[in-house]
Amino acid sequence: MSEVVETVSMFERLGGPAVIDRLVELFYARMDTLPEAQGIRDMHADDLSSTKLTLKRYLTEWTGGPKLYSVEKGHPRLRQRHMGFPIGNAERDAWLLCMRGALDETVADAAAREEIYGALAKLADWMRNQAGNPHDTQGHTARP
Ligand code: HEM
Repeated sequence: MSEVVETVSMFERLGGPAVIDRLVELFYARMDTLPEAQGIRDMHADDLSSTKLTLKRYLTEWTGGPKLYSVEKGHPRLRQRHMGFPIGNAERDAWLLCMRGALDETVADAAAREEIYGALAKLADWMRNQAGNPHDTQGHTARP
């Protein structure tokens, strides 16, 4: 007798499109208001509507939902797309602070919340392009 293995995507565990939508709205609401996030907020345009739409599509696809991002933009190449913005530890921490609060307010399933936060924290680490990122050549000369 064969075993039936049900795979539930992170997209479903989070709560689907309505939750992704609210998550991104609250994420940018925090970026707009938290003093710790002012530096990263200033990297963005005044009008966040297209950025919000892009992040919603990206997170939908990245969590295993419909492929809304790549049909329009192709391969994410996320690190490359962030190269124009100076991202070090402080910027990473500010980004994650906004995301932590938004996740706590939107995702009811605690295990899913911690899992996605952990994955996002890794991604945010990888996005750094200023001294301090061990993957970067610049990082090799950085002092602690
Ligand atoms: C670590 C700190 C980060 C900073 C300071 C940062 C900042 C930015 C900025 C300034 C933009 C441009 C916005 C625009 O053009 O409208 C952007 C785009 C974007 N960011 Fe980040 N970001 C960070 C981390 C992340 C992470 C961890 C993710 C993954 C979930 C992410 C996903 C995206 C996406 C999907 C876009 C749109 C890219 C595109 O044009 O297709 N970012 N980010």
